[in-house]
Amino acid sequence: MNMPKRTSLLAFAFVLLPSSLLAASAQNSTDDLAQCLTNRTENFTGLIRVIHTPQDPTYTPIYELLLQELRFMTNSTPKPWVIVTALKESHIQATIYCSKKHGFQIRIRSGGHDFEGSSYISEVPFVVLDLFQFHSIDIDVETATAWVHSGATLGQLYYEISQKSRTLAFPAGYWSTVGVGGHLAGGGYGALLRKYGLAADNVIDAIVIDVNGTILNRSSMGEDLFWAIRGGGHGNFGVIVSWKVKLVAVPETVTVFKVSRTLEQNATALVHRWQYVAPTIHEDLTMTLRISSVDAPQQIPNRTMLIGFESLFLGGADRLQVLMNASFPELGLTREDCREMSWIESVLMLADIFPNGSSPAILLNRTAVPKQYTKQKADYVEKPISVEGLEGIWKVFSEIEAEAGGMNWTPYGGRMSEIPDSEIAYPHRAGNIFLIYEAVYWNGEKIGPVSPRHVRWVRKLHRYLTPYVSKNPRSAYANYRDYDLGTNNIIPFDNQSVSWGIQYFKNNFKRLVQVKTKVDPGNFFQNEQSIPPSKVTRS
Ligand SMILES: Cc1cc2nc3c(=O)[nH]c(=O)nc-3n(C[C@H](O)[C@H](O)[C@H](O)COP(=O)(O)OP(=O)(O)OC[C@H]3O[C@@H](n4cnc5c(N)ncnc54)[C@H](O)[C@@H]3O)c2cc1C
Ligand SMILES: *[C@@H]1O[C@H](CO)[C@@H](O)[C@H](O)[C@H]1NC(C)=O
Ligand SMILES: *[C@@H]1O[C@H](CO)[C@@H](O)[C@H](O)[C@H]1NC(C)=O
Ligand SMILES: *[C@@H]1O[C@H](CO)[C@@H](O)[C@H](O)[C@H]1NC(C)=O
Ligand SMILES: *[C@@H]1O[C@H](CO)[C@@H](O)[C@H](O)[C@H]1NC(C)=O
Ligand SMILES: *[C@@H]1O[C@H](CO)[C@@H](O)[C@H](O)[C@H]1NC(C)=O
Ligand SMILES: *[C@@H]1O[C@H](CO)[C@@H](O)[C@H](O)[C@H]1NC(C)=O
Ligand SMILES: *[C@@H]1O[C@H](CO)[C@@H](O)[C@H](O)[C@H]1NC(C)=O
Ligand SMILES: *[C@@H]1O[C@H](CO)[C@@H](O)[C@H](O)[C@H]1NC(C)=O
Ligand SMILES: *[C@@H]1O[C@H](CO)[C@@H](O)[C@H](O)[C@H]1NC(C)=O
Ligand SMILES: *[C@@H]1O[C@H](CO)[C@@H](O)[C@H](O)[C@H]1NC(C)=O
Ligand SMILES: *[C@@H]1O[C@H](CO)[C@@H](O)[C@H](O)[C@H]1NC(C)=O
Repeated sequence: MNMPKRTSLLAFAFVLLPSSLLAASAQNSTDDLAQCLTNRTENFTGLIRVIHTPQDPTYTPIYELLLQELRFMTNSTPKPWVIVTALKESHIQATIYCSKKHGFQIRIRSGGHDFEGSSYISEVPFVVLDLFQFHSIDIDVETATAWVHSGATLGQLYYEISQKSRTLAFPAGYWSTVGVGGHLAGGGYGALLRKYGLAADNVIDAIVIDVNGTILNRSSMGEDLFWAIRGGGHGNFGVIVSWKVKLVAVPETVTVFKVSRTLEQNATALVHRWQYVAPTIHEDLTMTLRISSVDAPQQIPNRTMLIGFESLFLGGADRLQVLMNASFPELGLTREDCREMSWIESVLMLADIFPNGSSPAILLNRTAVPKQYTKQKADYVEKPISVEGLEGIWKVFSEIEAEAGGMNWTPYGGRMSEIPDSEIAYPHRAGNIFLIYEAVYWNGEKIGPVSPRHVRWVRKLHRYLTPYVSKNPRSAYANYRDYDLGTNNIIPFDNQSVSWGIQYFKNNFKRLVQVKTKVDPGNFFQNEQSIPPSKVTRS
């Protein structure tokens, strides 16, 4: 689990931290840092505070605003020495300049959804560059493009698009509070995945500020860096200020269905069949599975699996019925199961978190969705899992910790199979039939911020899946960050083993190291799983 590991890493740091670093952290340089920042941002702050030190009343509310993973909401979580809530590019430049000058690390936070808190936790003295106020969105319906600042959320982007057009959309994640900055930097998928690929596949330009504070666009950064930030962009190469994205076409009427089946309703056979149907059916249909266990008090045994089939179809219900009757009659989908609506209504419905009848404006609310205590993992599946394999999964879900556990299975195929692994830094394409998200939740108010037995359960589920998922490497998704895969040594300027790098990026890892070596040879931008330069040069 993360917290014990964190503690041991910290203990290790006290013993082995190089003397130069000890000096940097022992001396109280918060004042120098804050002074440097103030000097370089004074002309822009006006009445809005941009620099927040621990003494400021704004510091804790801002730190906690986008702290989305509650297991890190503890007093012992290492806090930043300063938070900069940038409003302008010059504030980002000042943060880079002053952090470098005074020996601080930077953690960049856009939406704060990182599973391991890498955008707001560091073991060495650090600054959080918080972009939540940096969130403007500029949509051009004529060209079907948009410039989106990193601090915007997916919900804001979806909402703004819907205000301009009923037939444009953007293919990104389900959860409205996820940040555009981190999400597109790691790939980003949602219900339009099979038709249009990842969010990162639809990026056509970007603004990045590099280690020297230089503001770069696609043509000035060059194609290598532009390639790298689409999938490998999490705090590795610089600060992504904004993305220019291509909007995609959706019909005025789309159809959503959500049906569920228990084991007693043949769920095992349906899940088995789903593995053949969902990745190969027409790309207008993305049919995801939500898998959990539930009480079944009238039965022996009294727990059963509940499999939710949740789908977006880019077309009307009649066409969907024809398609489903032809390819997946076993599910028994009826016309009543299908609801026609606009794309923005489908966003609300598929998020699975908003009350029925919510207005799309709820997508603008950064705190509308609950924060949770969780541990999550990922897998990619290349061959259908046998019925025996599925039954073994259900057995893992019969354990008590699984009461708050679950998986989402997202079908690949369609557009995802057409894009080569090397097109952008995100590598998991043809050959995969679906992506598994594995999660466990617990009631932290009762159990405490970390529940070892719940974490053990999700690791057990992951271990159980080993024979059924990708191997050599066992692939993982950078947006589902998991420190169980390994981390860089926390001591800066070290070049450590990188098994996680191969798992997240497969053959693209080598090129990412080359890009890193070129744009940030001194390894200023780093975190527990950042791309290392091949040879570190102190800058
Ligand atoms: C509840 C929930 C639902 C999710 N649903 C989906 C989903 O449907 N589909 C999907 O693909 N993923 C999903 N994710 C995963 C999500 O895409 C990643 O966690 C993503 O990295 C979050 O981006 P963020 O900006 O919110 O996070 P942050 O924590 O702010 O950032 C994530 C990482 O990117 C770095 N970073 C952030 N902004 C920048 C920037 N501007 N420049 C450079 N580096 C930056 C951070 O330092 C950090 O390392 C979900 C996550 C959660 C918690
Ligand atoms: C740094 O200085 C400030 C005030 O100048 C003080 O409040 C804070 O406790 C000091 N921090 C450390 C780590 O010594
Ligand atoms: C800030 O600016 C003042 C005056 O402009 C200067 O004297 C001081 O050295 C600067 N401090 C830092 C930390 O840059
Ligand atoms: C602030 O404004 C003054 C006067 O316009 C200018 O001389 C100075 O360079 C500015 N400082 C910064 C950091 O932009
Ligand atoms: C990119 O930046 C360069 C240099 O600043 C500039 O000349 C060029 O017009 C920019 N390109 C685009 C497409 O904005
Ligand atoms: C389950 O599947 C079997 C065989 O495919 C079928 O005979 C039976 O009617 C199904 N049961 C239900 C409840 O759908
Ligand atoms: C399920 O069965 C077990 C033992 O058979 C019993 O202890 C438990 O209370 C039952 N749970 C429910 C929800 O009925
Ligand atoms: C699909 O199958 C259902 C159930 O068998 C049937 O009621 C419906 O008419 C069929 N619809 C189409 C379009 O084939
Ligand atoms: C919301 O709508 C769905 C689909 O129509 C329905 O099944 C569900 O019961 C509704 N929930 C509430 C709380 O009204
Ligand atoms: C956002 O959602 C939260 C949680 O439901 C609510 O408390 C808050 O009032 C909402 N904010 C706005 C501006 O609607
Ligand atoms: C940053 O500046 C240094 C010193 O001027 C220069 O050697 C290096 O090439 C620059 N890095 C980038 C990525 O432009
Ligand atoms: C680590 O350092 C060694 C020796 O300098 C180098 O050969 C290797 O490529 C580096 N590994 C990475 C992943 O950068």
